[in-house]
Amino acid sequence: MTPTPIILDCDPGHDDAIAILLAVASPELDLRAVTTVSGNQTLDKTTNNALRVLELAGRTDIPVYAGADAPFVRQRDVAAHVHGESGLDGPDLPRPSESPQAEHAVEFLAELYRGAEKPVLVATGPLTNVGLLFATHADPRPERIVLMGGAIGEGNRTPAAEFNIWADPEAAQRVFAEGLDTTMIGLDVTHRALIKDEHTERMRGAGRVGKIVAELMDFYARFHKRRYTDLDGSPMHDPVCIAHLLDPTLMAVRDAFIEVDCTTGPSWGRTNVDWRGREHCGAPNAKVGLDIDGPRFAELIVERISSLG
Ligand code: RIB
Ligand code: CA
Repeated sequence: MTPTPIILDCDPGHDDAIAILLAVASPELDLRAVTTVSGNQTLDKTTNNALRVLELAGRTDIPVYAGADAPFVRQRDVAAHVHGESGLDGPDLPRPSESPQAEHAVEFLAELYRGAEKPVLVATGPLTNVGLLFATHADPRPERIVLMGGAIGEGNRTPAAEFNIWADPEAAQRVFAEGLDTTMIGLDVTHRALIKDEHTERMRGAGRVGKIVAELMDFYARFHKRRYTDLDGSPMHDPVCIAHLLDPTLMAVRDAFIEVDCTTGPSWGRTNVDWRGREHCGAPNAKVGLDIDGPRFAELIVERISSLG
């Protein structure tokens, strides 16, 4: 079986970090590069975190390219209340021995997607880099995008909007309007993709990487246990994108037309999802995640993270 090449555009962030580890733990995938964007924390911190996580996994061969440090239009707003000042609070992860590549992430992506091979573009942060790629280069495009963002129902950053889309709604609208093969994995799915304390304890005893992941979960769970008392665990938003590539039977999807609210009102950043062909809505421009087999997802996370030793 030839591994599927992927690029991970992310804003590590605890769940982004676990998505990186899940990708490198999975022989079905070939993580060609990581590109970083400001989101959970500022770009310098998300880039530093991507480097640290790859070094933890012994994969400093995977290059990191830094991208945008601010949204298209909106004021940058980080999520320190969830991920801490470093963006990866909890474990004591050493400073990285590697540096990011000199080339800007968007130029790297443009050059990459001019080529014949088109790695799947997985985006787990605000879509600023992807939107910039589409806005600044007419031709280079991935053939497939799998993104964590949005929601059919309730948001998280606001009642209306999920953080990745809320942080840069103009970029997100640019991405959905492109009409590429795009899968949107929103909160309706990721709030059922839960890692419970029992999963964390299994990883803690599984080895060096598992212990660090458990310490990441210890910190990440604090916020969720406080605000999401109705969830029986911590939502693993970003790793769902990787799990979906590993096992498409985990998550149900449905074609829909998605339009992002780019106003400045209380619903800014909302992904309005239409699958009924309503007037003033367009043809389907994405596959939207509907539900996930939570227990099977959690087992996949524990199994693969534990395999890293
Ligand atoms: O709303 C959840 C998303 O926002 C996740 O990608 C998390 O890492 C943050 O970026
Ligand atoms: Ca993220």
